[in-house]
Amino acid sequence: MRIVLFMILGGLLPAGATLAQDLDAGRKVAGMCRTCHGLDGFARIPIAPHIGGEPSEYIKAQLYAFRDGSREHEMMTVVAKGLSDQQISDVANWYNHFEISTAFPTGKSGNDAPELCVACHGANGISEMPDAPNLAGETNIYIETQLKAFRNGKRNNEIMSPIAADLTDADIQAAGDWYNSIEIKITDPAKPN
Ligand code: HEC
Ligand code: HEC
Repeated sequence: MRIVLFMILGGLLPAGATLAQDLDAGRKVAGMCRTCHGLDGFARIPIAPHIGGEPSEYIKAQLYAFRDGSREHEMMTVVAKGLSDQQISDVANWYNHFEISTAFPTGKSGNDAPELCVACHGANGISEMPDAPNLAGETNIYIETQLKAFRNGKRNNEIMSPIAADLTDADIQAAGDWYNSIEIKITDPAKPN
């Protein structure tokens, strides 16, 4: 879908100028993110999430939340405070333009996914709605930290807070194990191969 749209828009704009410029601006901002999230959004440290191919609405919302203090993290709060609205929009477009593909672990299928989560996060951890994140391939430590933060009120969201409130430690670990077990590949559709 995204690839097709990219090609159609690319064909309508004079030599795809505007889109290419948008991506260039985003790539520059992503230079500040690469040591932790990679330039392609494949995380380089276990406590940081993969953000390549994430819905841009979700990326923007989280950067605003870190910037205004409604979500807190010692690293991201500092990073986000330095970003303008324009940079947030550019970097969200940059990370969103990647394609993410997934594979279930050997012998498993979508039927093995945690039932409570699939409507929004997909059985394979690819988000089914623009304001929910992908969970595919995220580390257990990242998934568990976030679910516990929703459960204890450190992170707040009208959808996730009540869901997490009902999860036991074992449920949280099972969800982390499942989504961590999904293998992901992040590729740049603007650069085939
Ligand atoms: C020093 C490491 C570091 C740098 C640099 C960094 N991040 Fe992060 N980022 C993290 C960590 C760690 C988290 C997880 C925070 C948490 O646990 O709440 C995170 C979380 C995020 C999230 C939330 C994703 C989600 O799934 O909820 C977004 C979006 C994000 N970073 C974007 C960026 C962008 C854009 C930049 C560059 C402008 C950047 N980060 C730079 C470490 C970093
Ligand atoms: C009705 C939709 C919905 C359901 C069902 C749901 N989620 Fe979520 N989830 C969301 C939304 C929306 C967010 C983004 C919250 C925010 O903006 O802070 C989210 C965020 C998360 C995050 C944070 C990820 C990140 O990148 O920071 C985790 C982890 C998560 N959900 C796990 C789960 C698990 C595990 C289940 C099943 C037990 C589940 N969710 C069920 C909608 C849902």
